Amino acid sequence: MKFVRFLTKTAALANVPKHIEHFSKFSPSPLSMKQFLDFGSTNACERTSFSFLRQELPVRLSNIMKEINLLPDGLLATPSVQLVQSWYIQSLMEILEFLDKNPDDQRVLETFVEVLEGIRNRHNDVVPTMAQGVIEFKDAFRRPDDAATDHNIQYFLDRFYTSRISIRMLINQHTVQVVGVCVYVCVCVCKVLTVFFFSSLLANIIREPIQISYIPSHLYHMLFELFKNAMRATIENHEASRTLPPIRVMVALGGEDLSIKMSDCGGGVPFRKTERLFSYMYSTAPRPSIGDTQRAPLAGFGYGLPISRLYARYFQGDLQLYSMEGHGTDAVIHMKALSTDSVERLPVFNQTALRHYKLSLEADDWCVPSKEPLDLAIYRAAK
Ligand SMILES: Nc1ncnc2c1ncn2[C@@H]1O[C@H](COP(=O)(O)OP(=O)(O)OP(=O)(O)O)[C@@H](O)[C@H]1O
Ligand SMILES: [Mg+2]
Repeated sequence: MKFVRFLTKTAALANVPKHIEHFSKFSPSPLSMKQFLDFGSTNACERTSFSFLRQELPVRLSNIMKEINLLPDGLLATPSVQLVQSWYIQSLMEILEFLDKNPDDQRVLETFVEVLEGIRNRHNDVVPTMAQGVIEFKDAFRRPDDAATDHNIQYFLDRFYTSRISIRMLINQHTVQVVGVCVYVCVCVCKVLTVFFFSSLLANIIREPIQISYIPSHLYHMLFELFKNAMRATIENHEASRTLPPIRVMVALGGEDLSIKMSDCGGGVPFRKTERLFSYMYSTAPRPSIGDTQRAPLAGFGYGLPISRLYARYFQGDLQLYSMEGHGTDAVIHMKALSTDSVERLPVFNQTALRHYKLSLEADDWCVPSKEPLDLAIYRAAK
């Protein structure tokens, strides 16, 4: 019996590349916040959701699995990335089991929910595991000036983590029928700020309730990360002072956007470095020791800003940092105010994506300032 199961599994595994090839030919279907809200409403039909997900999940998984295979060999071969890849394969196989199942059978719908919950748990640690793979690769293989490889990894991780956010969104939507998608933004802001900061240092917390439809956990994640950064900068920049300058939060609602600005007086960062702060390879915090479960899971990986920006962009918003070195930083989250404008922004695997991975950075078409050549002094003297 065990042997038969082993053979069946081996046969299913052998078919995986074929399935990935097939499903990656479809483009993912982005949903709007309004559609998520309708799915989550009381009269939503589980059967319809099941029929949509058993096709859509393999499409989203396969699209991104094609891109995993395009990672630099050294990174793909790390035990961490191999582990992540095996999770994706396993999850894909489990969902494919439902392709020929009857949506009218209640037992099938129940098993589907169980399988989705299993998948969600299996993928819990994808971000730190992938981060570990990147660190291993960086330490072992990467040449310090290899800008093309850095570009590929950044490009991949942005898409990979967006895809993951979207897959979890679909799974949560189906398994818990996401309730409370509507959120009072001020409630979320205040919750983050009061839990993690001394109230005496808070200023300008919004007083009027502003309501838009958004995913509370996404908003919470972004605010928490921005707040952690603002707090660290403030404290490090005022080590010698007896008092700390406040971190100010402003929320503005317009016809199209809802924006939240968090301003600190933490000394800022040089303009030249602003884009680098969104790199998965960059952090000025001490590197976390892998496997140390006592620490917050992602503290110090340098993932706070890049992942928060993905959350903002996922529903067509953005996250920007305006820093004035010597003073402080404004971090602004822009979100769509209307649920019809908040539509999933999803990666699709196609020729354009493929070209990105094949890209080798060419010589700059702007002069790169270099140190004054030695013989310039001779040239000047000759003049
Ligand atoms: N408000 C800020 N003021 C000054 N520097 C900042 C601010 N926000 C971010 N930075 C700089 O940007 C870097 C990257 O920030 P990011 O949140 O992505 O990662 P991290 O804070 O280093 O680590 P993690 O967020 O994963 O714990 C920080 O290490 C810090 O040097
Ligand atoms: Mg951070």
